[in-house]
Parts: sequence; C-alpha cells; structure tokens
Amino acid sequence: MNQHNLPTASLFDEETQRRAYAIAANQECLASTGDFYAQSPFSRPSRPQDLPQFVSQAMSEGGDLPPSLALFGHRLLFTGYEQELVFLPQKTTSQMKSYRSFYDSEARAAAAVIRPALEKKLFGWMDREIELSGKWTLDAFREYSEGVLEDLEKSDSTFLRLLHELNDKKSAVQFFIVQCASDFLCEASAMARNVLGNYGPELSELFKILIDEYGYGVHEKKHSTLFEELMRDAELNPMPHYYWQFYNTGSLSLANYFQFISGDHNQFFRYLGALYFTEASLAFITRHQSAAIKLAFGRDANTLYFDEHTHIDTHHGRMAFENLIVPIVEKCGTGVLGEIVKGFEEFRTLLDRADEEMLAQIAWLDKADKADNAPVGTRSDETMVFTEDEGELSVTHCHDLDEWFEVEKGAIDLVCSPFKRVRLEAGEGMVLPKGMLHGSIVVSDKCTYRVAPVA
Ligand SMILES: [Fe+2]
Ligand SMILES: [Fe+2]
Ligand SMILES: [Fe+2]
Repeated sequence: MNQHNLPTASLFDEETQRRAYAIAANQECLASTGDFYAQSPFSRPSRPQDLPQFVSQAMSEGGDLPPSLALFGHRLLFTGYEQELVFLPQKTTSQMKSYRSFYDSEARAAAAVIRPALEKKLFGWMDREIELSGKWTLDAFREYSEGVLEDLEKSDSTFLRLLHELNDKKSAVQFFIVQCASDFLCEASAMARNVLGNYGPELSELFKILIDEYGYGVHEKKHSTLFEELMRDAELNPMPHYYWQFYNTGSLSLANYFQFISGDHNQFFRYLGALYFTEASLAFITRHQSAAIKLAFGRDANTLYFDEHTHIDTHHGRMAFENLIVPIVEKCGTGVLGEIVKGFEEFRTLLDRADEEMLAQIAWLDKADKADNAPVGTRSDETMVFTEDEGELSVTHCHDLDEWFEVEKGAIDLVCSPFKRVRLEAGEGMVLPKGMLHGSIVVSDKCTYRVAPVA
C-alpha cells in the first residue's frame, strides 16, 4: 500500500508484460496477407509465431538477441511507434477496417506497456559496447565531433566501392532505396515529437529544422515527397511501407532509435547528440548516395532528394550544434554533455552496423544462386522436412545459422529481395547465410522441402 492506501501494481510485472506482448503480436496488422508487398500502410506482416521464443529471450536478463529475434523485436517496436503517426485509408472498405484495427486502443496500450523493456532489450547493447570516458566540456565535444565529421568527409564510400564490383547495379541501388524507405517516407516524424512543450528559444530553433524537413508547408518540397519522387523514378512503389517485409533489422533500428529517444523525453539530451551527428554527417554521405543512383540509373537520374540534403544538412548540422546544443548546455549545465556525446556516438555506431548489414545483404543478393549439392558441414542429422500447398507464403525472416534449403518434390520460389527470386525444383537447393533476409512461396501444387543447419 502507498501513502493513499491504494493497492500498488506494476505494468512491468512479468504477467502483465506477457499479456501485453500477446495482444501486440496478435494484432491484425502483423498477420501474413499472402503477399510479399503491403497493400496498405496498415499491413506489417511480422511472423507472430515467433512470439513465444521472442518473449522467453526478451524477458531473460542480459545478452543480445540473435538476428532472427532482433528482427522480430524491431518490427514490433516499429509498428508500435507508427501507430502514433497518421496514415489514412484509401477509399475501399477493407482498408477502412484495417485502418480502425491499426489504431485499436488496446493494441496501442499494449505497445506502450512493452515499449520500455523492448527498447532496453534492443538498444541495451550500446551501453555495454560504447565507452565514454572523462568529463566533457563544450570545447572538448566541439573538437572531438569536428574531428569525427572531418574524417567522415574525407573517407570514401564502401557502398560505391562495392557497387563497382556488382553485376546487377540497378537492383543493388533499388535495394538501398528500399532500406531508406523505412525512415524517409515518414521523415522527421520523430523530430516532431521534440517540438511539443516549452523549453525556450531552442524549441523554436529545432522547429526551424523541422519546417525545412517539411518543405515549409509546400508539399512538393517536403523531404518525404522528394523521396517518393526518387522512388518512382527508380521504378519503385512509394506507398508507405509497401516494402515492409524487405526492411533489414539495421534499417528498422535507425528509425526506431530516433523514435525511442524522441518519445522518451528522459533521453532528450541523447536526441540532441544523435540529431547533430545525423544532420552533419548527411551533408557528406548524401554526396556518395547521389553518385550511387547515377551509377545505376545514368547521369540524368533524379538525385534531388540526396542533393537537397547535401545542401541543407550543412546548415542543419551547424544549427544543431550552435543553436541547440550550445545554449542547452549553458542552460542545463555541462552535466548533460555526457548524454549528448552518447547520442552522437550511438547513432554513429548504429549507422555503421546498419551499413554493414545492408552491404552484406547486397553482396549476397548479387551472387546468390541455387546449387545441386549441400555444402560441406551440412548437419543432415538435424534436417527438418516441410510440405506446403501452392501459394503458401513464408513471411520474410532470417536465421541464426547458415542454412541449407533443398527441395525434394515440387517447386518453391525463395524471395530474397523484391528484385531477386530463386526458383528451386526437386533436387535443387541453396544456402541461406546467417542473418540474410528471405521468404518463400510454393509455386507447384505441393512442395516438400528440407532445411538443415550448416556448421
Ligand atoms: Fe531531410
Ligand atoms: Fe536535415
Ligand atoms: Fe528461412
């Protein structure tokens, strides 16, 4: 009992958490629709069957989640955040129903109950891996951050280097654009959470950055609109999250991180550091990204989205430091600098990890092909056999070990990206490396296939 004699209860006890997880994972929007592409923003297929395994690991202390469960966790977290953004139904009754269900109050409440634990589980590794020593002063942080950004400006792009070596440059760049879509189609939505309230003139400085991102109310100039245009010109569908099933864990983690530190205002100082890094670094990174688009689609390709950021983010980086960080540290004290540096370093690390994952996936997609024989080290004694009917679709996922996938009867398409399908018929197989996103769909009356881990 507390001082008012009310019974005490916690939303974070195990039983409540389990119930909230079950409600969040059983939402209509997470179910498979039998299609690899989302036909509305309210569709987020996420393999709810992974929930029991996820919950048992998510609720255990310490340790990072394996790739398969980290993907599930980020999909769940992303969906919860986006239930706080506005998407509207198209004029069909079926979309009206899924619109209502997407914003269902119990589902949103469940997302809020699991959110703090989920954020801790998915981002807690950064507390262990990113070390920040010493007492920071504004001058020391200025010198340090300028050094990091200068190095970044001078470094060349690993993506561009890889692209030169690939056979299918167009699919690789389209895949890169799809990864960006997870964040850019709703660009700056997380930022908007930080201009509510009242913390003085710095709020208005952030608002200036926000309205740039929103094109000063001119829809054609809104950054997400420029990105939609870029998608159309790259022969992609710009509907929000049409490619949901093809977002990598890393791509989801970037958008989720900004939602996390923007939604929980105890993390506001981390937000300032992450904002500064992202705005200042985009001024350089986007130059390489424009070059990649031109390499795949020709010199006249539409790169306005990236070019606009090369220009405006030079200002946004400076504004984030001079007009936000400096006066806020003067107002709140140098004690908050540690958290600002933390946000700067965390987003930088997350971006590196997401890039690494995307480049590994792109390199694999370029050469992934079927084979006649299982690789050496295939643990046939652990083979699992499945028989599925025509049209049965396995929502995209990834495995925690390399896996040998072999068809015994019938035929199946392994769908490794929107641009890469490999059809396997009886006697044919393929290695699915650890962490590589893929789904499948049966394309004969019935298909029997076997999977075994590769040591
Ligand atoms: Fe932007
Ligand atoms: Fe910006
Ligand atoms: Fe699989």
